[in-house]
Amino acid sequence: MSTGETDDPSPVVLRRGGAQDLRFLRDMLHHAYYWKERAPTSGPGPVALYVKAWGRRGDTAVVALDKGFPVGAAWYRLFSRDRPGFGFVDEDTPELAIAVVPNARGRGFGAALLTSLLDRARADGYPAISLSVDRANAGAIELYERYGFARVGENDDSVTMVAPLAGSATV
Ligand SMILES: CC(C)(COP(=O)(O)OP(=O)(O)OC[C@H]1O[C@@H](n2cnc3c(N)ncnc32)[C@H](O)[C@@H]1OP(=O)(O)O)[C@@H](O)C(=O)NCCC(=O)NCCS
Repeated sequence: MSTGETDDPSPVVLRRGGAQDLRFLRDMLHHAYYWKERAPTSGPGPVALYVKAWGRRGDTAVVALDKGFPVGAAWYRLFSRDRPGFGFVDEDTPELAIAVVPNARGRGFGAALLTSLLDRARADGYPAISLSVDRANAGAIELYERYGFARVGENDDSVTMVAPLAGSATV
């Protein structure tokens, strides 16, 4: 799948992610959740929550490629109330994670990944999607707001945001 115009010399190329991308998703999580590295006793960390046992019902990923190499990923996963993600809202609302490698940022990969993943969630019939973002990450928060996310909760270090999906269009 390609989201670029045909006359664009470097269109953003995306493909669906799968089990073969687990190592890359794990690497991307270190960019997305670097501030949430936790002590071993303080509950499951990001990798255990967002990547481990990939292939559960609902698990969906999109990978961005630059000259054939993965440079970013966005994915979502459903969580249970007794083992929630950081941006848990309810058991029917998948939670999104996204990151682009530092040297590929600012070239449209993040926007393309978000558009594609929200389209997929909408096509899969989810009424909404959530995420957790560092409250100091103003750039990412602004990006999410452009895609329809609004703040629904906040604690000392992070903000939970939700975007409605049914019937809405991505930017
Ligand atoms: C957030 C992130 C995925 C965006 O990816 P990207 O490829 O750089 O995004 P794009 O190039 O598509 O840019 C999209 C828009 O968001 C803005 N933006 C994104 N992150 C930004 C930041 N940290 N600061 C300022 N602006 C930012 C860009 O300026 C751009 O706006 P424009 O289209 O008007 O120029 C990427 O910056 C990233 O991986 N950040 C670190 C991990 C992270 O914060 N993940 C989110 C945790 S929930």
